[in-house]
Amino acid sequence: MNWATDARLVAAVSAAGGLGTLGPNAGATEPSTSPETTGERLREQIRQVRARTDRPFAVNIPIGRGGMRVFSDRAVQVVCEERVPIVFVATGSPAVYTSTLREAGVFVVHAIAAVKHARKAEAEGVDAVVAEGFDGGGHSGFAEIPSMALVQQVVRAVNIPVIAAGGIVDGAGLVMAGAAGAQAAYMGTRFMAVEESPVHPRVKRAIVEADDTATLSWGRTTEVARTLANRFATTFREKELSGMPADELHAYIADYQASANRRIGGVIEGDLDEGEIYMGVGAGLIDEILTSAEVIHGSVAQAQAIAAGLDTVWNAGRRQRTGGWFPQGDAAE
Ligand SMILES: Cc1cc2nc3c(=O)[nH]c(=O)nc-3n(C[C@H](O)[C@H](O)[C@H](O)COP(=O)(O)O)c2cc1C
Repeated sequence: MNWATDARLVAAVSAAGGLGTLGPNAGATEPSTSPETTGERLREQIRQVRARTDRPFAVNIPIGRGGMRVFSDRAVQVVCEERVPIVFVATGSPAVYTSTLREAGVFVVHAIAAVKHARKAEAEGVDAVVAEGFDGGGHSGFAEIPSMALVQQVVRAVNIPVIAAGGIVDGAGLVMAGAAGAQAAYMGTRFMAVEESPVHPRVKRAIVEADDTATLSWGRTTEVARTLANRFATTFREKELSGMPADELHAYIADYQASANRRIGGVIEGDLDEGEIYMGVGAGLIDEILTSAEVIHGSVAQAQAIAAGLDTVWNAGRRQRTGGWFPQGDAAE
């Protein structure tokens, strides 16, 4: 999660049994214009995670577009040098880094938002895919497929493990992910609103206060993003619906005085009105700021309770339909 992670959060998630994932600009509070600096910042964060926990963790690398590719190239070099066990690659073709990472012994997960991209990632040799639904925070695919329908279709289409993402914040989400055939769940927004998260307290509070309509998806001609539905996002949406060309929309995002850019201003400095604050629809389900361990242990316990309860509900339904318990109930139906 860009600007929303650091070694402390990642180590807390991993120590609690999750797979903490360092995002782009982890631990940083200002942009860097140098791939070297960005790479060394990442190296330092990786080492800090290792100083805090011996549990496995991952790094997320979005493939840089155009001239930005030098940044992701450098990040790939650093994760290979530092022998990071698992890397999530996003926003680009799996042909770019998969072989380099796998040759270095890295388990490669590619983030996709449509079945055809999952198939392509599998053909390129990735070890697993994250199926990211349109309901998730951050950038989503132009196909705008919600996670409940996406995950099942991806599971049917590929033979590698599928990790479900988008709107998963608790045990109910874990059960839905598992029922859809996913082997793990990838949770972003939930881990913005934890005690160890580096995001601004105002952003954490906005997540706790969010209802089902608190986020907005925008950027059909730029890149699809889901953020807090604040003044910036609603103005952007109005501008794009009125037909403003993509280069002017990009200029509108860049036109930000309060800080280095809207993402830092929003996520790190807590500008709730004009910041670009990525957030998923699941924010409406988050009612308190917890520790990472409470989220992970609580979600797993809730998932187990729900799964056990589902069995009771379904069996009760069967009892109703068949008029009683049948040892060979399936045959009787
Ligand atoms: C603040 C924020 C920043 C994000 N930045 C990235 C990113 O840099 N790279 C990436 O692959 N996904 C990014 N995402 C998407 C997440 O990896 C994940 O797919 C998403 O958060 C899952 O949906 P959820 O937010 O409903 O849990 C970001 C999400 C958030 C909330």
